[in-house]
Amino acid sequence: MEGKAITPAPNASTKSASPESDREVLKIWGGHSLKGQVKISGAKNSALVVMAGTLLCPDDCRLRNVPSLVDIAGMAQILAAVGVKIEQNGDVLDINARNILDTQAPYELVSQLRASFFIIGPLLARLGFAKVPLPGGCAIGARPVELHVRGLQALGAEVHIDHGTVHAYVKGPNRRLKGAKIYLDYPSVGATETLMMAATLADGETIIENAAQEPEVVDLANFCCAMGAKIQGAGTNTIVISGVRQLHSVDYPIIPDRIEAGTFLIAGAIARSEISLAPVIPDHLTAVIAKLQAIGAKIIVEAPDIVRIVPAYRHGATDIETLPYPGFPTDMQALFMALLTLSEGDSLIKETVFENRLRHVAELNRMGADIRVKGNVAVVRGVARLSGAPVMPTDLRASAALVLAGLAADGVTTINSLQHLDRGYEQLEVKLQKLGAKLLRVKASEAANAELPVEIGRSGLH
Ligand code: EPZ
Repeated sequence: MEGKAITPAPNASTKSASPESDREVLKIWGGHSLKGQVKISGAKNSALVVMAGTLLCPDDCRLRNVPSLVDIAGMAQILAAVGVKIEQNGDVLDINARNILDTQAPYELVSQLRASFFIIGPLLARLGFAKVPLPGGCAIGARPVELHVRGLQALGAEVHIDHGTVHAYVKGPNRRLKGAKIYLDYPSVGATETLMMAATLADGETIIENAAQEPEVVDLANFCCAMGAKIQGAGTNTIVISGVRQLHSVDYPIIPDRIEAGTFLIAGAIARSEISLAPVIPDHLTAVIAKLQAIGAKIIVEAPDIVRIVPAYRHGATDIETLPYPGFPTDMQALFMALLTLSEGDSLIKETVFENRLRHVAELNRMGADIRVKGNVAVVRGVARLSGAPVMPTDLRASAALVLAGLAADGVTTINSLQHLDRGYEQLEVKLQKLGAKLLRVKASEAANAELPVEIGRSGLH
């Protein structure tokens, strides 16, 4: 049979998820100021794990403030694939996991969404067995799961990996996990969440030491407690879970996304614009706010859930080291680096959480930044201005960082792949347009001739 000849389209990314013909790009006209208030969506990294947590419950679960993201849709598909009933109505998800028909998530879905690995803990706790394909690595690192596996073994599960799939089951007549004392070599967010969920239905008490303290861990714990779980210490490095027999229905609102909020604080700073954000939980942004203040921006908490940024005309330099919460969040590293490229002086950024999370440096340098990398350390020498350029982001937060750099750059920046961005930000370009940013989402084939609609251009504030 005659095969279809595949010819490389000009400038096509061979990695684009969709065919070249409908690949979309963002075209950004830099140098415009922003104003107004932006709505922050529910937290991606809470919603994903809480969705997995609904597998613990045989009754109806209603989740509110769920962001509309590619990753959320992916997790919904994975839940549906194992038999969960799931209905979306705007930012509300109605989920019923009474009848779990299968305990194996399909490889083609799992391979695209690392967070799908979160179903292993709840399936083991609920049914006593689970088969979950190993999540692959991604652009930022190998992302192993041995802390999850070792913890589940400590809780009494037999776990082995065969042909890329993790096979786990609980021996014994009632197939019930048994509480245990677990020490995590590293305060892994995912491992803490997997083990906390598994322990909610285990027989006896589980103690997780050196646990992650991220707000998303606390949100998951609050969600489980709202279903009747007994969890204490979430948000500290020691979490104690007393197992119960069964959980019940819940109607639960997801916390606001602190990384999206941090992204918009940087947007205001890099565009030298005063903007406000709501809803926000300021305590979730302590490290980011401290660093913004250190370089000369003012952060005003206008109400318990409203934050305003008043940027400096030119920000100073500062040093950043990414750490587990409450340290500076790794997810904000690329974004803050974009801002520091325009600071007065040299900044040193050390990425300690992931082994390969400085790949946005090359793209920022193409926009005129002056950044040198040695191992996991980047030295950012401030420049007076960035210049717009076509760029190709490598991961989710790098994509957002390049969008923000484009807001400040002279001329036009084209973000040539949006597959990462759409996984983690809900309509980022729409929210920025509402603040006055000049950018358009267009088909790659139309980008060269795309122009701002006149009405947008006329009201542009230079
Ligand atoms: C969560 O990933 C987030 N993802 C990440 O957000 C975030 O960057 C990360 O936590 C750190 O805050 C979700 O919540 C869906 P880890 P996770 O386990 O759980 C190593 C984004 O942009 N490790 O705390 O995978 C691991 O390799 C994403 O929204 C092991 O070695 O993070 C990494 O170097 C990116 N063995 C470090 O720990 C393990 O078994 C931190 O990983 C598990 C992790």
